Amino acid sequence: WHVAVLMGGWSNERPVSLMSGEGVATALESRGHRVTRIDMGRDVAARLTEAAPDVVFNALHGVPGEDGTVQGMLDLMGLKYTHSGMVTSVIAIDKELTKQRLVPHGIPMPGGHIVSSESIFAADPMPRPYVLKPVNEGSSVGVAIVRSDSNYGHPIARDAKGPWQDFAELLAEPFIKGRELTVAVLGGKALAVTELVVKSGDFYDFDAKYTDGMTQHICPAQIPQDIAERMKALALHAHQLLGCKGASRSDFRWDDELGLDGIFLLEVNTQPGMTPLSLVPEQAKYCGMDYAELVERIVEEAL
Ligand code: DAL
Ligand code: MG
Repeated sequence: WHVAVLMGGWSNERPVSLMSGEGVATALESRGHRVTRIDMGRDVAARLTEAAPDVVFNALHGVPGEDGTVQGMLDLMGLKYTHSGMVTSVIAIDKELTKQRLVPHGIPMPGGHIVSSESIFAADPMPRPYVLKPVNEGSSVGVAIVRSDSNYGHPIARDAKGPWQDFAELLAEPFIKGRELTVAVLGGKALAVTELVVKSGDFYDFDAKYTDGMTQHICPAQIPQDIAERMKALALHAHQLLGCKGASRSDFRWDDELGLDGIFLLEVNTQPGMTPLSLVPEQAKYCGMDYAELVERIVEEAL
């Protein structure tokens, strides 16, 4: 195959995408495929036309590579591409739209609502502890946990540093205490459950995600069988309800005091990371698929 690997771009996750893209490109080359690396700029359509690949591997994260914009452009150009299509991407990038789509089908997700970032200085949008997050970012960019111990002041102090500085609106959700888990879906199958145990720091934030040694990945997660099976079923169901293609990864929190009732889906990632520390490659490996095979499987689904 001749594969154009789209990576980089200008989202906050640009450095992550460059790592994902380089990993994918190197793996494809190791399998004898021809690769054109494209660091996405505004001239991406012209560069793709020039490259004329058989298929595009979308290794972009964040906006506009994960929110349907690039997918719509590729559709218009008549190019085949990996991962989810335009409509799925538009919904899945937006954590609020995702809830509207999934909750009526019985997928448990935290409640919450959108607040203006100005309003949080006047009063808490809900009882503490709660989470403030941008609706359409990835890798925990812009996420803050506002705790009962007034870590940002009470009410939140105007000069406290947090995601409100870069975003006009934020999603406020109750903080789910307990454990952080994730499930990858590929080829109509949920691969495994991984638990993320952050060794230092507050939560599984950007640094914990991409600094080697900061987070322990336990795969398969040491949790009861019924919890693991339910999470895998929920991840597969969410993938199907949203119409995801290629690989997706559903992130969960589990309040272990509540058993099956304590499982909450936080979001579905349609462009999950493919870096050396990323979770989808790790779960694929657990299922007996090495990184290069995983990349080929994702491409095959797009052809
Ligand atoms: N947003 C990052 C890349 C992930 O979901 O893995
Ligand atoms: Mg995400």
